[in-house]
Amino acid sequence: MVRRKLINTGDMEQVMEEYPEQSEVEESNVDEPLMKSPISPIKKSLIEDLPGVGAATAQKLREAGYSDMMSLAVSSPGELVEATGVSEPVARKMIQAARSSLDMGFESGDDLLKKRERVIKVHTGSKVFDDLMGGGFETGTITECFGEFGSGKTQLGHMLAVNIQKQDPTAVAVYIDTENTFRPERIKQLAEAVGLDTNRVLSQIKVARAYNSDHQMLLAEKIEELIQEQNLNVKVVIVDSLTAHFRAEFVGRGTLADRQQKLNKHLHHLLKLADTCNLLVYVTNQVMSKPDQFFGDPTQAIGGHIVAHACTFRIYLRKGKKGSRVAKLIDSPDKPEGECNFYVETNGLRDI
Ligand code: GTP
Ligand code: MG
Repeated sequence: MVRRKLINTGDMEQVMEEYPEQSEVEESNVDEPLMKSPISPIKKSLIEDLPGVGAATAQKLREAGYSDMMSLAVSSPGELVEATGVSEPVARKMIQAARSSLDMGFESGDDLLKKRERVIKVHTGSKVFDDLMGGGFETGTITECFGEFGSGKTQLGHMLAVNIQKQDPTAVAVYIDTENTFRPERIKQLAEAVGLDTNRVLSQIKVARAYNSDHQMLLAEKIEELIQEQNLNVKVVIVDSLTAHFRAEFVGRGTLADRQQKLNKHLHHLLKLADTCNLLVYVTNQVMSKPDQFFGDPTQAIGGHIVAHACTFRIYLRKGKKGSRVAKLIDSPDKPEGECNFYVETNGLRDI
């Protein structure tokens, strides 16, 4: 006990010495903009280093899935209050300090431009859809499609798994199937339509059925093993559906914060994977009817702000006239909002 206490005290002193500005963070107005923070060259990695986080709070945070600075930096005060029982001002300070501590390393604009050259734009099969997306679905991003049943989300997942192989014959697609809707027969049809060897295409798609949200998260974590240990050139990861298990497992109001925390962790893992491995993470999402929120449309994507913020591109898919489909780009870092129409057919997507 004494030893632990001594070590803790030592750590704290070291922390205070290393981060003299931290006490300023505590005293300062928590609503102050974060602009100044990133210049700090100090990189903190333990959540215990944050103001207001002792051993007990740190443990509660970890149990709730906040194991690193990133997960805290993107959380909301309300979520932390629920997870740890700290007051809201303390939660705000924790979040702000976590954000400040994320020394992600500045990259110059030209370095980033070079990095952008590695981006592959995975084709959808529809020219108008590709144009809407600036050439296709980009690697390095999480791209989300949400929409009602039968709107074409799963079909699009199948298309991407095939088309990436047309674009890069060494590419591998990973399909995390939570709804048992992956169909190898469909892959065969689509591969034939673009003139690819169907057996080869199927062998380059690694499919795993996820039985619950924990399993889904575990599978996502295994993708790094595929890349590092089996040396697979994974370029597309499909999570179909991202939210179904989470939605089914966390029922009732009191469970919302838990669900969001878990989903947040999952999404951050996927985001990191997309960024570090330059791969496209395509996730599908369901909608629910809720006229009181979002876009004025009576349908709203599941997962709230957590999903909205984690996804780089968000597309709303719906059924259009005469069996067509309408894709609407809702959120994009560099492309205007817009819409396009196409048909889902046996050979893939077809422009109208
Ligand atoms: P949920 O998963 O239920 O939310 O729907 P989803 O958005 O994933 O829908 P999905 O991608 O499964 O789309 C199913 C629709 O695609 C069907 O209703 C058909 O209209 C169309 N579709 C699927 N396969 C074929 C095919 O081989 N030929 C044609 N013409 N249409 C197909
Ligand atoms: Mg589906």
